[in-house]
Amino acid sequence: MQNIIETHDLTFHFRGKKNAVTGLNLNVPQGSIYGFLGPNGAGKTTTIRMLAGLLFPKRGIVKMFGNNISTHKRYARSHSSTMIEEPTAYKHLTGRENLEILCKAGMFDKTQIDQVLRTVNLFEDRHRKVSGYSMGMKQRLGIAGALLPNPELFILDEPTNGLDPQGMFEIRELIVDLNKKEGKTIFISSHLLGEIEKMCTHVGIIHQGKGIFEGSMDELALMAHATKLFRLETSEPQKAESILKDRYNTKLTHDKLVEIQPADSTDQYNAIKMLINQNIEVYQAFTIKNNLEELFIQVTDEGQNK
Ligand SMILES: Nc1ncnc2c1ncn2[C@@H]1O[C@H](COP(=O)(O)OP(=O)(O)O)[C@@H](O)[C@H]1O
Ligand SMILES: [Mg+2]
Repeated sequence: MQNIIETHDLTFHFRGKKNAVTGLNLNVPQGSIYGFLGPNGAGKTTTIRMLAGLLFPKRGIVKMFGNNISTHKRYARSHSSTMIEEPTAYKHLTGRENLEILCKAGMFDKTQIDQVLRTVNLFEDRHRKVSGYSMGMKQRLGIAGALLPNPELFILDEPTNGLDPQGMFEIRELIVDLNKKEGKTIFISSHLLGEIEKMCTHVGIIHQGKGIFEGSMDELALMAHATKLFRLETSEPQKAESILKDRYNTKLTHDKLVEIQPADSTDQYNAIKMLINQNIEVYQAFTIKNNLEELFIQVTDEGQNK
């Protein structure tokens, strides 16, 4: 599968500040819904501004459709569409009038406007002023603007930010439809793993400007499985930790539970046996449900320790 976006060693810092993005390598397959996941301040918007050609990398390159965008800017621009953070619109104009202005500015086909309004479910409200739109409607109008040029690739920066659950659901439906029915590749950033899990085929995780994971959703799930944790509540947590440390990757949690990473259930059984043999009482032993949220906390924790 061909990559629609590739970055190599992408790096940027704002004047006088430490790097906002460091050595980032992204591989976004054609036809994917790629979730670009990271907590607030991780460097998502900065990365997206570089993808859109709005910021110049201090180091590294961005390839789009196989070409370096610094030498093929026009091609990249005309085949992709970017919506960054909260989209802006003229509030005293109607939704439709806003799209008419965009068409004029970008020389897009005006006859598309109504179709695009239907796609984002704003057709009924097209003659209302944007000042009376809800947050979700404004967000959908922003997406409508990005749809006008009918590009192959959409780059959406936190399009569900600030929306209520219904608004988030509608945007997700829209994104999945664009991908499934029209074959568009969609690169979408979010700080919510739950959002990414619900709609994406691939994921890249960024933390403090660095890429810490990239792969398919299945690979992420596999990794989550591989990092299963086993926790023990004991009479002597410190002693228990020092006993298990020799054999397992061990740590003591804030609430004084001893945590190990077992390879299988024999490991779990042996850990309990080792403690009991040393006269440590084991009150409780449990495996942590390994959902992706847990993994996300783990990977971001690890990122922080680097
Ligand atoms: N215009 C700016 N000037 C200085 N620092 C900035 C600017 N924009 C973002 N940053 C800093 O760069 C880092 C990454 O920010 P950003 O890319 O906006 O993260 P995200 O979109 O993941 O929340 C943060 O530390 C942020 O404070
Ligand atoms: Mg941002």
